[in-house]
Amino acid sequence: MQRFIIQGGRRLEGDITVQGAKNSALPILAAALLCEGETVLTNCPKLSDVYAACRILTSIGCKCVMRDRTVTINADVPSRAVIPERLMQEMRSSIIFMGALLGRLGMCTLGFPGGCELGPRPIDLHLQAMRRMGVRITEENGILHCAAPRGLHGARIHLQFPSVGATENILLAAVRAEGETIVTNAAREPEITDLAQFLVKCGARIEGAGSGTIRILGTDKLTGCEYAVMPDRIVTATWLACAASTGGELRLLRTDSGSMTGILDAFEEMGCRCSQSEDTLCFAAGRPLKPLRYIKTMPYPGFPTDAQAIVMASLCKAAGTSVMEETIFENRFRHVEALVRMGADIRVAGRAAVIRGVHAMHGAQVSATDLRGGAAMLAAALGAEGETVLTEISHIDRGYDSPELVLQAVGAKIERR
Ligand code: UD1
Repeated sequence: MQRFIIQGGRRLEGDITVQGAKNSALPILAAALLCEGETVLTNCPKLSDVYAACRILTSIGCKCVMRDRTVTINADVPSRAVIPERLMQEMRSSIIFMGALLGRLGMCTLGFPGGCELGPRPIDLHLQAMRRMGVRITEENGILHCAAPRGLHGARIHLQFPSVGATENILLAAVRAEGETIVTNAAREPEITDLAQFLVKCGARIEGAGSGTIRILGTDKLTGCEYAVMPDRIVTATWLACAASTGGELRLLRTDSGSMTGILDAFEEMGCRCSQSEDTLCFAAGRPLKPLRYIKTMPYPGFPTDAQAIVMASLCKAAGTSVMEETIFENRFRHVEALVRMGADIRVAGRAAVIRGVHAMHGAQVSATDLRGGAAMLAAALGAEGETVLTEISHIDRGYDSPELVLQAVGAKIERR
């Protein structure tokens, strides 16, 4: 089992080139399944979740090769519409392959993605949407059998909640369905826009991605293309939190500040300086950091649930009391215990966490509880006095491409053992 050993208290300074977005790469890899010919996906981060998506593609009968940060997929003859249970469990977002398989083969068999570290992850909205498009779904011993005997057809679909995953599944199925699909209350996350841009480049007809209403006109054929994955806004937020916790200054290259409004607003409220030009973001930590009086996680363009733990790590040392409310997932404060062990003063009551800033944090032995919770511990450890041993870092490897190398290059003392 690998672990990070971190000697805290070093100010981060320098340049970081931001990796491609996991939450964009994964649905685009699924989308490649819809295309004939070759898809070349560049700026694809090296992550265990990306490798899992490649294994799913291979198990379906596609050719999928990753060299450095470029994945080449050939989906000319997908032969199996079944995702093995073991692969469904390996990556929670494997559910996005449902829309892609239905769009390409009109059928699929797959397990439930199951609960995860963040609590139950229901897929009722995904299933309702697929049914509206003509898919018959039956469940047998936890396995879903989905088939559209008369083909997929367009539909009007109103999502009760702007679910990111459900919106992606609808897009993936609707681009190959007969006729028009209109999705209302669609998720507006930038990764949805990135997926739609990829599909449009392959020949799909999609209007309104990035807004609450998306209109898709199905087409018979999509052809693979070359596409670069957008920069990862949550990874960007993580490096900002690491800089904030250490009183540092960073220049982030190849970022997309436009996609980070809610996050940058929070850091500015904390007294940090964020200045953007083209794809570069210059950041200087607030000294001291100011608290966030009240912030709650919301669907985009609100403050993202994925940044909650990460920003909380910085707030532990703010000069005052902050309140964070988690409205998206019910089990997303599991990192709090580790932060408290490192000297933070945090109380959780239901969906709210009250963070009273402390003067200093100290190193401790802690375990990553989930992907972003682990990233929060990393940020806290860098700003803490003494040594932190961070275990269970496979959670972090799901979303961060060589984080120790990135951080070493800007002055952190961190080692993978
Ligand atoms: C969510 C985040 C996304 C983040 C991802 C990975 C939001 C809105 N979405 O996306 O930004 O990148 O986690 O951490 O912040 N739900 C249902 N039924 C469904 C689908 C979802 O009840 O069929 C509920 C979920 O339980 C959850 C909420 O809707 O409370 C958000 O789910 P959704 O947007 O689908 O989650 P992800 O796609 O995983």
